[in-house]
Amino acid sequence: MGSEGMKQPWKIGMFQCAGLMGAWKLPENTATDFLDLNHWLTMARRCEDAGVDFLFFADDYGYPVVGDGIPATALRGGVQFPKADPTMILPALAAVTERLGLVTTLSTTVEKPPMVARKMATLDHITNGRIGWNIVTGAGQNASARLFGLPMTEHDLRYEIAADHVDLSLKLWEGCWDEGGLVIDREAGIFADPDKVREIEHHGPHFDAKGLLPVPPGPQRTPMLFQAGASVPGRDLAAKYAEAVFLAAEVPALTAQIADIRRRAEEYGRDPRSIKCLIAGTFVVAETEADAHALRARQTGTRSLEDAAASYAFFTGLDLSVMDPDKPLDVEAALTQTGRTNVERFLGPDAPTVREILEEFQRNSVMGAPFIGDAGQVVDQAQAVIEATDADGFLVQPDHTGTFDSFIDLVMPELRARGLVATDLPAMTLRERLLGTGTPHLAPEHPGAAYRRDVASAKSPATA
Ligand SMILES: Cc1cc2nc3c(=O)[nH]c(=O)nc-3n(C[C@H](O)[C@H](O)[C@H](O)COP(=O)(O)O)c2cc1C
Repeated sequence: MGSEGMKQPWKIGMFQCAGLMGAWKLPENTATDFLDLNHWLTMARRCEDAGVDFLFFADDYGYPVVGDGIPATALRGGVQFPKADPTMILPALAAVTERLGLVTTLSTTVEKPPMVARKMATLDHITNGRIGWNIVTGAGQNASARLFGLPMTEHDLRYEIAADHVDLSLKLWEGCWDEGGLVIDREAGIFADPDKVREIEHHGPHFDAKGLLPVPPGPQRTPMLFQAGASVPGRDLAAKYAEAVFLAAEVPALTAQIADIRRRAEEYGRDPRSIKCLIAGTFVVAETEADAHALRARQTGTRSLEDAAASYAFFTGLDLSVMDPDKPLDVEAALTQTGRTNVERFLGPDAPTVREILEEFQRNSVMGAPFIGDAGQVVDQAQAVIEATDADGFLVQPDHTGTFDSFIDLVMPELRARGLVATDLPAMTLRERLLGTGTPHLAPEHPGAAYRRDVASAKSPATA
């Protein structure tokens, strides 16, 4: 698979969260400016000028919880904490950019479908169709459940809820307003055509609704749909609904995850190539290889093993600091109801010890091993991973400065010189930009497309 058709240019997204990330302790790092709007405006403009495809904001309501509280080390060390609300920042970024895609996470465990549908439909308008929704069931579940005063929903049940959530959201985006439903004829006094605007009904296993999305459809109708969370039910959710997936793993696990998502997509009647698989990639790049390795050493030196344990607790709910460092995770650990990706990752025949897991988390956290070297070297390494995995591009981690400056200044020119990325793309919707199918709307075989009444009736004119 992957050999047929033309080689597509790599898709390049940039990873952020509206809070502290990575090596914030380095003096040149700017992540502590996360509550200063100018920090984000500058970053968005730079990304747009560099020709990258989109800027992504991860989000969740969680923070590390171990036992019954927040470990002091998480507060002191700024581990998965603090963070602001990215949906409050995105409109400002839309105002200073014209081509850059803007993607954010909204959790299906926390947010209700009409809220997601309304926010995303509004953002689709004000970004001119450049918005994407990253569908997650949510990291930091144990903390998030406490914050909302709710019992923690079991892991697999969260994914069942997610599927029902997306199904209802799709009905709201696709089913309420036909094309031409918005009339705005002042002379005739008609705002909307009652024959083309309606309430949808949904009676799913977890959500019941009869209602109208009060926002008329934006350029994409449904925002471009992303997904993150690579546990088995996570991959299944991606295969059913996602148009792009974020993955963080290394070869060969990454190759297997991508093949599994594409196989499942085919089972759902979708074109397996229509899902863009994006690898969360760390590029430690400098003018020389030696400088890059020195940079890497400085970055890793900012994270203690205690920070790593707090970060691991955030993603999995497991406290490695109280486990036997010389043994692998025990089977009971695998039953965690918090995130699964970073538990499953460390099980199996060659399972590392708890100490090795901590060291791995100290170095790379949830990401795979970084690409390190000068521009030519990191692109060689990235190319090898793309070839080994059949992936479509990268979600680039911020560098030691908390920005993407080194990637933009050193790696982007190298990618362009090798013809690996598209150049000088005009303004278009995010879906058109990433999928290249020439339409801003969901593909006809996407489950959401079936909810468009005008499309359904247009398919069978004989019955009109
Ligand atoms: C690149 C990338 C971005 C992610 N972004 C988010 C995010 O914004 N919010 C979130 O809760 N989880 C995010 N996740 C997923 C979490 O790491 C976690 O796996 C997931 O929320 C729990 O699902 P799981 O049980 O399938 O692992 C992201 C994962 C990756 C690889």
